[in-house]
Amino acid sequence: MHTIVTNFSRKVIVPEEGIKLKNEPEPVVRKKYEQEIDRILITKGCLEARITALALEISATFKRIKELDCYVILKGGMFFAADLIRALDEQSDIRTKLDFIKCSSYGNSSKSSGKVDLYKIDELQGENVLLIEDIVDTGKTLKILQEMIGKNAKRFKTCVLLDKGIAKDVQVDFVGFQIPRVFVGGYGLDYAGHYRGLPEIVVIRKELLKK
Ligand code: IMP
Repeated sequence: MHTIVTNFSRKVIVPEEGIKLKNEPEPVVRKKYEQEIDRILITKGCLEARITALALEISATFKRIKELDCYVILKGGMFFAADLIRALDEQSDIRTKLDFIKCSSYGNSSKSSGKVDLYKIDELQGENVLLIEDIVDTGKTLKILQEMIGKNAKRFKTCVLLDKGIAKDVQVDFVGFQIPRVFVGGYGLDYAGHYRGLPEIVVIRKELLKK
């Protein structure tokens, strides 16, 4: 049974069994993915509710600024960023700008390679910068990005949708959900290119993951 969450005003700690809204039915994995996906961890409704609250948190922090340069890490952060930036523009007086950074560290495995390839980093600029990332695992990717982008900005903040609570020496200003140490997909996140289009965050079956 999924845990029902009603308060989305701060980082939500997600238990192993997953979370849902009170009015959502018990989430079930679509038949076509049953062999690959173990369970739904965060429902579409919970994602929407937390992202709306995150936009309020971000606009309160950046409240006196006119323009916010949002840099999205591709590809995993794209759905999160699309919803977050629209919520920011809708709910605040801040004007948003959007650009992308291509970054890859995982390849086809579920373990961080420790090697991060970045594209477009030289062109990054802006007074007030928000870096938007899908997930923090070891924190290696984010640390490199923060060092490279942060030095050019007057005010620099980082926002991630999911945090596995493992990364130590990296600071994240805004976190959507803290999740258990499982490999997840959906809502932009993938395993070997799959599952990005799912509207919820799901847990990939352990048997499927390459060591
Ligand atoms: P880190 O450098 O170990 O923090 O890994 C960060 C990157 O690895 C993220 O931007 C994701 O692209 C990928 N990643 C880490 N954990 C997961 C996961 O559970 N599912 C999908 N991608 C993940």
